[in-house]
Amino acid sequence: MIRFIDIEFGSSRYQELLDLRYKILLQPLGLKFLDSYREQEASFLHIGCIDNSTDELIGGLILVPVDNEEIRVMQVAVDPARQGEGTGRKLIEYAEKTAKEIGYSRIVMHAMLSVVGFYEKLGFTQDSDLFEEKGINFVRMVKEL
Ligand SMILES: CC(C)(COP(=O)(O)OP(=O)(O)OC[C@H]1O[C@@H](n2cnc3c(N)ncnc32)[C@H](O)[C@@H]1OP(=O)(O)O)[C@@H](O)C(=O)NCCC(=O)NCCS
Repeated sequence: MIRFIDIEFGSSRYQELLDLRYKILLQPLGLKFLDSYREQEASFLHIGCIDNSTDELIGGLILVPVDNEEIRVMQVAVDPARQGEGTGRKLIEYAEKTAKEIGYSRIVMHAMLSVVGFYEKLGFTQDSDLFEEKGINFVRMVKEL
């Protein structure tokens, strides 16, 4: 069984989430965490997925308000050992529920091409042409809540 938690910025769970994000999202691309960016994260919502049997963090994401209607999901990561078990789907569904509860009507994200199919399965649609950030190709994807 898994559960979802809100993670407090600066807590030990937050550090675990940073480690997971680094391992899954940054390290494979040869990117580093910028301390200046980390400070901005104080105002973001951090969500973690915990395996109840081990109490380990196995996934997470962040939610960043864009304006009064739109919120952006970023840094979606599931531990490679736990991918393909439905955790990513449940994580996004939890993020959607949270976003709706706090008053947002649209969720957006910049998806790497390798995961566009994952978000399409969850009801997101492509909303932009291909664009490049730090040498990586993305498309903007959107879902009305
Ligand atoms: C993308 C990611 C979050 C998916 O998490 P996951 O737990 O493996 O996904 P799930 O098991 O919940 O998959 C849900 C569905 O999406 C499908 N799916 C998973 N990854 C997919 C992909 N990359 N492309 C297309 N479909 C995918 C699954 O087959 C499953 O389909 P089904 O419901 O028909 O069985 C995870 O693989 C990951 O962390 N990847 C590395 C980091 C990353 O690329 N993050 C996104 C940054 S934009």
